[in-house]
Amino acid sequence: MRPDEKTRSRAAKFSRSDAQMMMPHPLRLDLTKRYSVFNHSSTALNTKPRRTVLLLGATGYLGQFVQLALGSVPSILLINKGGSRDLDFTKPWDDDNLGKDDIVVDVVVNCAAVSQPGECAKDPERARLVNVPRGLVEWIARRKNNKPLLIHLSTDHVYEGTRSFYKETDEVNPVNHYGATKVEAERLIRSLYPCRHVILRSSIIIGPQAPITPVNRPLLLQFIQTALASGKPTSFFDDEWRCPVSVHDVVDVITACTLRAEEFEHAGETFNLGGPERLSRADMAEIVSDLCGLDRSLIQRVSALTVNRGVKSPTDISMDSSKIEGFLGRRLTSFKETARRCLSERIGT
Ligand SMILES: NC(=O)c1ccc[n+]([C@@H]2O[C@H](COP(=O)([O-])OP(=O)(O)OC[C@H]3O[C@@H](n4cnc5c(N)ncnc54)[C@H](OP(=O)(O)O)[C@@H]3O)[C@@H](O)[C@H]2O)c1
Repeated sequence: MRPDEKTRSRAAKFSRSDAQMMMPHPLRLDLTKRYSVFNHSSTALNTKPRRTVLLLGATGYLGQFVQLALGSVPSILLINKGGSRDLDFTKPWDDDNLGKDDIVVDVVVNCAAVSQPGECAKDPERARLVNVPRGLVEWIARRKNNKPLLIHLSTDHVYEGTRSFYKETDEVNPVNHYGATKVEAERLIRSLYPCRHVILRSSIIIGPQAPITPVNRPLLLQFIQTALASGKPTSFFDDEWRCPVSVHDVVDVITACTLRAEEFEHAGETFNLGGPERLSRADMAEIVSDLCGLDRSLIQRVSALTVNRGVKSPTDISMDSSKIEGFLGRRLTSFKETARRCLSERIGT
């Protein structure tokens, strides 16, 4: 079987009928709840074997949501490593930091990264050390009796951005250092740890402010809403396209992979993880503006080429995420629905 055929047959494993997609997923999160993230009966989960999950990057935007969600599943014992103070990827790897083979780890979730393309461009060496987690992957690969599932966060920036709706089987060709480090990490994982890994190529993650400690960068939805509410005209790119994904969908996927770790025992998987629509930032601003009853005429559509961001940005990295929808058994949340739930507190609906 050729490699692309192998990938296609694996993809088929995760395809589901439309009828199945419409069925409520048992792990569906309630977006209206900030702290108690799970909205399901824990009975089914209690019957699953207890598993230990090591979460890296627990202090980051996504990591905070993941720790609250996994921490609330009764059958999961969660070990958090909250960023560079706990386990610094730029320092030589020290097995003792995680405990040698005596600590049983069933799943490792790696949310640690230098996640902003601009930051990666400013300090490429640090970005590479953190984003290509060689020490971590080697540690996992050499464990003898206990081989955990590695869930690793990658990005849509692995694609070149010259076409729409990339599939997992399409060629990767990043245009910036951030994307290049993520491609290198993916290759490292596939070569050193070919089974028991899940690589999630996430698009821009949207959602409420981080639930434990606010992150010190503007979040997309909140930035748009605040800018338009100020009553001042604001520029938004109308020639770069993304598939923004709800943070709760990302958490749902990580939780499902954790609870279904056995499905990846004999093969690693790569999934695109983007919302259902291909949108420019100007499109997103219009949706937020309409939802919040703000003045659409304040949105100035401009080309991304008019601004020097100090880092090259891919044009169209919209993705086809049907494979992960098949795995999850439901459609991912639309931008409008995520924005509505997330901004409802702010707009009083
Ligand atoms: N957010 C998005 O829109 C988006 C989109 C696509 C893909 N992703 C990917 O999703 C993952 C999570 O993103 P995020 O938005 O949650 O990132 P984030 O908010 O920037 O958090 C990054 C995490 O990595 C940790 N970290 C940074 N440098 C480290 C180091 N030297 N050693 C160990 N840990 C270190 C940070 O800890 P401290 O800084 O506290 O030390 C923090 O916990 C990343 O892999 C990112 O590339 C995110």
